[in-house]
Amino acid sequence: MEFILEMKGMCKSFNGVPVLNNVDFFLNKGQVHSLVGGNGAGKSTLMKILTGVYTKDNGQITLAGRLVNFRSYREAGKNGLRMIFQELSLVRTLTVYENIFLNHEKINRSGLLNKTKMIAKAQELLHSLGVDFSAKATVGSLNVGNCQMVEIAKALSMDAKILILDEPTASLSDNEVQVLFKTIRGLKEQGVSMIYISHRMNEILEISDAVTIMRDGRVVTSEKSEHLTIRDIIGYMLGEGGGKNFAWVPRKNPPTDSAMLKVENLKVKGLPEALSFEIKKGEIVGIAGLMGSGRTEILQSLFGLGGYISGKVTLDGKVISVRKVKDAIKSGIALVPEDRRTQGLVLQHTVKQNTMLPVLNKFKSWITIDEKQGEAMVKEKVQALNVKTDSIHKIISFLSGGNQQKIVIAKWLASEPKVLLLDEPTAGIDIGAKSEITEIIRNFADSGNSVLIVSSELAELMVVCDRIFVLCKGRITAQLNREEIKTEEVLQHAIQG
Ligand SMILES: Nc1ncnc2c1ncn2[C@@H]1O[C@H](COP(=O)(O)OP(=O)(O)OP(=O)(O)O)[C@@H](O)[C@H]1O
Ligand SMILES: [Mg+2]
Repeated sequence: MEFILEMKGMCKSFNGVPVLNNVDFFLNKGQVHSLVGGNGAGKSTLMKILTGVYTKDNGQITLAGRLVNFRSYREAGKNGLRMIFQELSLVRTLTVYENIFLNHEKINRSGLLNKTKMIAKAQELLHSLGVDFSAKATVGSLNVGNCQMVEIAKALSMDAKILILDEPTASLSDNEVQVLFKTIRGLKEQGVSMIYISHRMNEILEISDAVTIMRDGRVVTSEKSEHLTIRDIIGYMLGEGGGKNFAWVPRKNPPTDSAMLKVENLKVKGLPEALSFEIKKGEIVGIAGLMGSGRTEILQSLFGLGGYISGKVTLDGKVISVRKVKDAIKSGIALVPEDRRTQGLVLQHTVKQNTMLPVLNKFKSWITIDEKQGEAMVKEKVQALNVKTDSIHKIISFLSGGNQQKIVIAKWLASEPKVLLLDEPTAGIDIGAKSEITEIIRNFADSGNSVLIVSSELAELMVVCDRIFVLCKGRITAQLNREEIKTEEVLQHAIQG
């Protein structure tokens, strides 16, 4: 088999901190090769060097037998490389089709933009990916899952020799993942080679021919998929002693009988029917549903986002009115939003500033902020969630995707809410940190607080929830207690409606 791509001895440091250490990576023509590793292992950095986004310190890249060194993503693109970026590269104020054809607009004979053709082609691409929103919609109005679809369509709109997919499925549910996999298999048949990055272990073995596993900037092993099990991969990723069991364990303090959050006839913007439900003190409730079933809208409206709510919300025995985010926070409700980049973080601020933001009041002494006390809190959170950063003063956009997500969770935990709303909290989080976060959620509920969690990974809901609501097209169609959910298939079946 010939290699279409050889990367040898790749090295990269940021501000003197080594991130890639002599990394070798070989890609066979027409194969899907997965790149796996914990948060901050260096996967995205390696791919950004390949595609000219970052410059390497050292190493050699051979593409189809020719030594290359791309200085921009544009140059890499001209040479047949395309990347679906983990942090999404879309312009939120432009429409879907404008984003898809950005920098390679279709021009008609008189030199004008051929809008009709671009819209039609974009719509066709979206259709082939199994989604049906309009190509004329503004990207800013789409949820993260749909943005991911646009990002994928954008990469597919140009012919690629090598397609790099950096966590394309982080916010997708199983159905969309299967459609994407069909597309990947189709591209493979056409001879396209692909590098696939994901933290979802079952995806890796399903889609890839080979797997390279990284840990702390080095390659631990590179093997054909058929020689690996999920257990092997986790072992290589986390090293010895890593990988606690990601399974349901009985709660230390089971949910009580008294209600923490009671929702009566809640009318959420965009949903067909008013909703009523209750969450007990100490209870962890999940919402399972397909993309677009209204999961996010429910959480957002309880947090004072997305339109006025009619209906009655009672929190810890007191009727509350949540019209704005401020009201929600004051009542003791916090939301970890699905899109960390636009809703969860201030990207140009440091780890410390981001973590302290919701709790600045707590550290106010007279008119100044008690920086020392604040820093101690941030350091404790960074340690508890095992956030990989060289300093708490690092600008958050320079952290790896998964580590940014950990800060979003840390920040809202620091605000000590009574009810924590979590929207895809572990998107992009590695399997090691996932069990840590699960434990944090359990501890949080064990001390009498309540959790409402949305996740497209059903396995995750089954590990952490006491009860699961099934949501179909905006309606709660079933409620399942933990004991009733014997397998993931049962739940999968229920959400299909
Ligand atoms: N521009 C940058 N400036 C400083 N440090 C950076 C920069 N880009 C990446 N890093 C650091 O390099 C390390 C590797 O990051 P990278 O994004 O490659 O990880 P990753 O394997 O993709 O992780 P994840 O699974 O969380 O996405 C991290 O510790 C990150 O903080
Ligand atoms: Mg990454």
